[in-house]
Amino acid sequence: MTSRFEGKVALVTGGSRGIGAAIAKRLASEGADVVLTYGGSQEKAEAVAEEIRAMGRKSEAIHCDAAQRGATSAVISDVAARYGQLDVLVNNAGVYPLTSLAKCPDETWDHMLAVNLTAVFEGLRAAYQVMGQGGSIITIGSVAGDAAQMPGVGVYSSSKAGVELITRAAGREFGRKGIRANIVQPGPIDTDMNPADGQNAELQKMMVPLGRYGHSEEVAAAVAFLASDDGSYVNGTTLKVCGGMTA
Ligand SMILES: NC(=O)c1ccc[n+]([C@@H]2O[C@H](COP(=O)([O-])OP(=O)(O)OC[C@H]3O[C@@H](n4cnc5c(N)ncnc54)[C@H](OP(=O)(O)O)[C@@H]3O)[C@@H](O)[C@H]2O)c1
Repeated sequence: MTSRFEGKVALVTGGSRGIGAAIAKRLASEGADVVLTYGGSQEKAEAVAEEIRAMGRKSEAIHCDAAQRGATSAVISDVAARYGQLDVLVNNAGVYPLTSLAKCPDETWDHMLAVNLTAVFEGLRAAYQVMGQGGSIITIGSVAGDAAQMPGVGVYSSSKAGVELITRAAGREFGRKGIRANIVQPGPIDTDMNPADGQNAELQKMMVPLGRYGHSEEVAAAVAFLASDDGSYVNGTTLKVCGGMTA
């Protein structure tokens, strides 16, 4: 593997499991020191950090409840100060409440917006303060941000539509400082959030021209491209990793 991230420091929110863990390991495998945050899965997060340290990179897992106002900003400032730089931020932490719009409780709505949208806003704003020329921010949205494809997904869709636009806005606003911001929109990816044998799985497979769920590593590969200099002229845009679901 080439070392596209040698000497770089990356922060991945929600790096304890699933897509975030795959992204953290992929960036480290290409030379980055990687800090990952977790909410409830401390053991899993520590295991990912340990795996990364075994690759010879610096890594640590930091508890950061993305639902708490100010928590994401504080971690970004802290990491940039202690490591002396922050080159890559991946806004990945997310929750997926499957609920009808008509019956969605206030608490579900507030928590989802706090994690899926407000924490991303905080991440973008804090990253602007600490990143320099060449910084790269990637937000993990969803194809559900384009359309509420299935019953129960619409509430989640609204947060993923929001993060797409705010991330593209960051690409526009931060570009003059040499910071790029892009959004990756996965289709169905086999994780705890949306297991390939779970609710609506067969329906989702039918909606994907490739006829299968994606793997976390396939999303991580796209993130690594956008984070690296290979994506140096890609800014303020959306990359779909969805097997053609939205073709
Ligand atoms: N899987 C899919 O089909 C799919 C499709 C499109 C988009 N996505 C998006 O991809 C991202 C990752 O999803 P995934 O499939 O990997 O889900 P996952 O396996 O459920 O993992 C979710 C991650 O987010 C973290 N997280 C959740 N709430 C948090 C909080 N309050 N504070 C800090 N961390 C929190 C979790 O950490 P803890 O366990 O430590 O709390 C975990 O690391 C999400 O933004 C999701 O919306 C997923």
